[in-house]
Amino acid sequence: MLGKKIGKMIEGKEAPQGPSGVSGTGKPAEAALLWAGRLAEKPEQEAFAFQASIAVDRRLAPDDIRGSRAHAAMLGERGIIPAETAEALDAELARIGAELEAGTLEIDGGAEDIHSFIEGVLTARLGDPGRMVHAGRSRNDQVALDLRLYLRRTLPELRAELERTLSVLLDRAEEHAASVMPGYTHLQRAQPVTLGHWLCAWACALDRDRDRLGDALGRLDECPLGSGALAGSTLPLDREAVAAALGFRRPSLNSMDSVADRDFALEIAAACAITQTHLSRFCEDLVIWSSEESGFLDMGEAWSTGSSIMPQKKNPDFAELVRGKAGRSAGNLMTLLNLLKGLPYAYDKDLQEDKEALFDSLDTLQSCLRIFRGMIAAARFNTGRMEAACTGGFLEATDAAEYLVKKGLPFRRAHEAVAMIVRDCIAAGQQTIGRRSLEELRRYSPLFDEDLYPALSPSSGAGARNLPGGPAPGEVRRQIGVLRKRLEN
Ligand code: ARG
Repeated sequence: MLGKKIGKMIEGKEAPQGPSGVSGTGKPAEAALLWAGRLAEKPEQEAFAFQASIAVDRRLAPDDIRGSRAHAAMLGERGIIPAETAEALDAELARIGAELEAGTLEIDGGAEDIHSFIEGVLTARLGDPGRMVHAGRSRNDQVALDLRLYLRRTLPELRAELERTLSVLLDRAEEHAASVMPGYTHLQRAQPVTLGHWLCAWACALDRDRDRLGDALGRLDECPLGSGALAGSTLPLDREAVAAALGFRRPSLNSMDSVADRDFALEIAAACAITQTHLSRFCEDLVIWSSEESGFLDMGEAWSTGSSIMPQKKNPDFAELVRGKAGRSAGNLMTLLNLLKGLPYAYDKDLQEDKEALFDSLDTLQSCLRIFRGMIAAARFNTGRMEAACTGGFLEATDAAEYLVKKGLPFRRAHEAVAMIVRDCIAAGQQTIGRRSLEELRRYSPLFDEDLYPALSPSSGAGARNLPGGPAPGEVRRQIGVLRKRLEN
């Protein structure tokens, strides 16, 4: 009978062998049933696999070990377990961690989850001392802790990835602070801007994304360990000490909240989805700019792909994929919101589903940031074509109206006068307001003078927009400076 078999295993008479230390029986479910408790019947292999999470939570191994070491040390300090046992647990947990890192110990894919796998290895190697580590702890507070530790370990890396991407955007913005290009609204040419201004706009969005990740990290700063299954423990645990040992500001306030809360996962998934949405929009611009019709951008051959049928093709697949992956991240956020909606307090197994969505959002964002950065660094902007596109779409119309405003005409009248000029230019096949003689222009407003003409060029249009936030080269350089300073802090 299985019960007996596990009993023997637990007694250490039949310590499992094999690479993972728990798979010697060839029946992974057996080794995984460390806490079958009163349940004498073993689940079907398929059912066991269905409720297992090892394939997803294996990446929490270093965090699980870290949490267990802090917990074991506290149990020893408090005299809940003998000091030698605490020491033995610490040494063995450290060894398991090192072996996992070195690859000499493999995570058993047949285990239920990372917590049971590590406790299983510990027990197989140490016997009774291994059985002491879980005193005063539940997998509910353990997983809540592990996930927080994992995020505290990896989010700064993700943020650094974002910062490197931001920094490349700023380099390119600086290079093109004075490169004039058309700015668009409704995808119609609107007013002259600079490419540096555009790239800085993207950098501003990423700067907020970076803040959002930082905010989420701040709220993660509470240690749930000691919350047990939901109601803490009757053992004299020292929650303050464990929180401090693990680098948390404080232990969490309420044990039920600690095991039920996944706000932090929602927040981070939302921050990822927002960042992905930004990347998706940037990439949409890159795709448009790469079209023959636009011709603003040459993505370079290494950042393009060919076609299986059309030999001439050079497709912006990378930008399109980054754009497309925003859908995954939005989906992951929806998954998490729907997962939590309606869940009774405190822990429910549904919560196990949180990790796959969250990890996917983190992984997706990391790869997208890297790819987007590479693309931007390599992008060859066709500044001649950009500047040429500023002529012909009457991007100077607002400037002409503002010229009249500066001479005292009410804006609405100025708007009307220039609208008439544009209409008549189009009818006459003239591409710009500047093609009209002063005499002709004075029929629309006597306020026009010779000094109008230089004000109509794309570069003076962009250069004159030097208000804070504007596209003028000097102002763009100031914006770059502000963003660089924020990056340094
Ligand atoms: N694998 C589980 C998870 O990710 C660990 C907690 C299991 N707790 C439980 N009561 N079954 O949520």
